[in-house]
Amino acid sequence: MDLKGCIFDLDGVIVDTAKYHFMAWRRLAKELGFVFNLEDNEALKGVSRMVSLEILLSIGGVTASAKEKEEFAARKNGWYVEFISGMTPDEILPGSLKLLRDLRKKDILTAIGSASKNAGTIIDSIKLRDMFDVIIDGNKIHKAKPDPEVFLKGAEEMKLPPSCCVVFEDAQAGIEAAIAGGMKSVGVGKPELLGRADIVIPDLRKITIKQLRNL
Ligand code: G6P
Ligand code: MG
Repeated sequence: MDLKGCIFDLDGVIVDTAKYHFMAWRRLAKELGFVFNLEDNEALKGVSRMVSLEILLSIGGVTASAKEKEEFAARKNGWYVEFISGMTPDEILPGSLKLLRDLRKKDILTAIGSASKNAGTIIDSIKLRDMFDVIIDGNKIHKAKPDPEVFLKGAEEMKLPPSCCVVFEDAQAGIEAAIAGGMKSVGVGKPELLGRADIVIPDLRKITIKQLRNL
């Protein structure tokens, strides 16, 4: 492919924030009177805040009004923001920084394409803002993955056609979004979950620009 830009999902690709989401959702579940375990947390990865809440409430068998749901989501987010504000560059996942630097050296543009409304806070906490030419987060989009909006906006802001972009994703919905957007995709995680990606790697240490150009 004619590689000109790379679009990275944030949670689960650049940093492991799933544990902080889990801690905050578990605390909310506890306050609502039920136990939320790590296994249940898998279903929340890559999913928007309100859909995550719906899944959590259905696990606990809790019904709530729209107003209560807003309050629950805000409560969870308050704790989550506290956790991520304390993040440091040590929490950048292995291989991320090297890959971003290598891309820069080859004049390949970089973007974040995340569903999270907290992406900016995370990027600042881990001091990585300078490594991205474009940041598209949950505040800039209307449609959640698997809709391609977040990645198409990323390509548009980089002024690149989708066919020149590669998406890095750890969630199935994200791979589907890349495919729907006409982009190549790298699945970061388990092949059994991310089989629709053009290539699946365990982490960002396991990919080179040469491999990306061959996609
Ligand atoms: C990412 C995470 C999800 C999270 C979503 C919204 O996609 O993988 O687990 O629910 O962002 O995050 P937010 O920070 O806006 O609540
Ligand atoms: Mg993710």
